[in-house]
Amino acid sequence: MNSAVRAVVRTALYNKVKAVGVFKGYQGLIKGDFKNLDRRSVSGIINLGGTILKTARSKDFLLKKNREKAYLNLINYGIDGLVVIGGDGSFRGAYKFGKEFNFPIIGIPGTIDNDIVGTDFTLGADTAVNVALDAVDKIRDTVDSMERIFVIEVMGRNCGYIALETGLAGGCEEAVIPENKYNINKICGRIVRGHKQGKVSWIIIVAEGAVSGYDIASEIREKTSLEVRVTVLGHIQRGGRPTARDRILGSKFGSFAVELLLKGVKGKTVGVKADKLTAIDFKNAVDNKKWLNSGSYLKLIRVLT
Ligand code: F6P
Repeated sequence: MNSAVRAVVRTALYNKVKAVGVFKGYQGLIKGDFKNLDRRSVSGIINLGGTILKTARSKDFLLKKNREKAYLNLINYGIDGLVVIGGDGSFRGAYKFGKEFNFPIIGIPGTIDNDIVGTDFTLGADTAVNVALDAVDKIRDTVDSMERIFVIEVMGRNCGYIALETGLAGGCEEAVIPENKYNINKICGRIVRGHKQGKVSWIIIVAEGAVSGYDIASEIREKTSLEVRVTVLGHIQRGGRPTARDRILGSKFGSFAVELLLKGVKGKTVGVKADKLTAIDFKNAVDNKKWLNSGSYLKLIRVLT
């Protein structure tokens, strides 16, 4: 997110437009937690995880009276355009707020889940995959040395993107994702057959939205009588140095968002499709579910096992 914040600020200043940081997302909008930002305010942040603006999940923004406060704060501060970086929830808020007050907003898809329609990639997803992959590589040392079955649970909410990418890149034997109903008997059958043929180590990557890592591990233990260990990767996936791909994406998204606002475009979220920057209506982004080509990943994982 920091690369996007940096790009928004510097593109605005480049175009002789003032830049203001809103701290803690919609909570900061309601409280008027604003600060003028200059070129130096965003120095040395492109390599940092998280966001220097901080963030919060805001239930308060669901209430109309709080959105009115937010609107008045923006007007009183002289702000006439807003860039919202976030996922599904942030975009729902932006769509509602933008319509209610006819306020110019452009969204930047920022979520590790990569579950936003209208873009091939969301900010943070590539970094999360690489963090998860690094963990899988490390866990594999135990998997191979001790000949064990490991279940590794990754984040992603209702989307299997992190699990599929990490599963394929990490050479995992199985990927369990919300988009495909898993069949425990088939998984255990493959493990037992593999075991008989001398294959003794397995990594099963599980997306949190499909099943809990602990639950599927119990099922496998019960059906195969083999030793199974579980690692839940959790919030490490949301931290660390952003990958080059994410920094570049954030820079492009941030700059493009400001260019759109300067052209008078509003109510849209930016995205990238087949390497081209795009923008779609918030309504389209919040009303539709992103399609994940899970079949091709799952087939390849099976073929390469
Ligand atoms: O949406 C991003 C995400 O990291 C999900 O992958 C995860 O389920 C959720 O947020 C965790 O949210 P929180 O940090 O509020 O527990």
